[in-house]
Amino acid sequence: MTFTRRTLLLAAAAASFAAAIPAFAAKPLVIGFSQVGAESEWRTANTASIKAAAKAAGVTLKFADAQQQQQNQIKAIRSFIAQRVDVIAFSPVVETGWESVLREAKNAKIPVILTDRAVNVGDQSLYVSFIGSDFVEEGRRAGHWLLDYAKKNPNKQLNIVELQGTTGAAPANDRKRGFAEVIAANPKLKIVRSQTGDFTRAKGKEVMEAFLKSEGKNINVLYAHNDDMAIGAIQAIEEAGLKPGKDIIIISVDGVKGAFEAMAQGKLNVTVECNPLLGPLLIKTAQDVVAGKPVPKRVTVQEGVYPADLAAKELPNRKY
Ligand code: AHR
Repeated sequence: MTFTRRTLLLAAAAASFAAAIPAFAAKPLVIGFSQVGAESEWRTANTASIKAAAKAAGVTLKFADAQQQQQNQIKAIRSFIAQRVDVIAFSPVVETGWESVLREAKNAKIPVILTDRAVNVGDQSLYVSFIGSDFVEEGRRAGHWLLDYAKKNPNKQLNIVELQGTTGAAPANDRKRGFAEVIAANPKLKIVRSQTGDFTRAKGKEVMEAFLKSEGKNINVLYAHNDDMAIGAIQAIEEAGLKPGKDIIIISVDGVKGAFEAMAQGKLNVTVECNPLLGPLLIKTAQDVVAGKPVPKRVTVQEGVYPADLAAKELPNRKY
């Protein structure tokens, strides 16, 4: 086949025209993401991880902050459906009450990925994948640390107060269950008070103040479902003239920098890690779903337990 000068010029013009028009470029993936809120240091790290991973992958992320309200998440999901995003992802504030909005997404053929927290639904086909920690196991790890402590201090009475996470949230339900299951092995370990502190520092402090008022020096251990509530409670304990980490043993969950700083100061005894850096996994899963590749229904992440004696050494390595 021979090419005339005119054919070559026309071909070159067509190629440069195509390159100049964005319509010819691949359409970026659009993910609608409804975040729980900004209640904790953990959440801030989780949001940053998701935004950074989306940016790095050239994904358009429509981000909505639910301010810890389920109705805001339902509204956001409906708006993502109306906008016809490619994938909906969300971290559910609470476990129940999702059937109808998830069915709306399914009817609109928009895949849903759960991240961080689970939902309690009868029909598992309402979401394609759930990426996040095993919260029951985190509760068990906290319980095992306390069992070991009790073994090393056999003469100590151990009355426990518990600061629960947001009522109805998967990490609150599961961390409570895992911890209770393990400490049941030692009858000396007794939960004397348990109340929600909504995963926030302010609420953690307020509820700990109330515990101290009603129980006085009867409290030996605090189990907080997250580090932020533990940090709030530490303030309340100090203001009551007691030494956190000594007069009251403190166990919490997350492993954020604030907890490592508190441990380095001797004010917190142990934190059970909960990894918030879920962004890269979430974005990859969304890309795979849209590409029609099979994705695992459940993805868990590797996590550790950090007692205070490791804190100073570990602090410089912490990424959140
Ligand atoms: O769902 C994860 C939990 O939510 C984290 O432990 C807590 O800090 C956050 O608010």
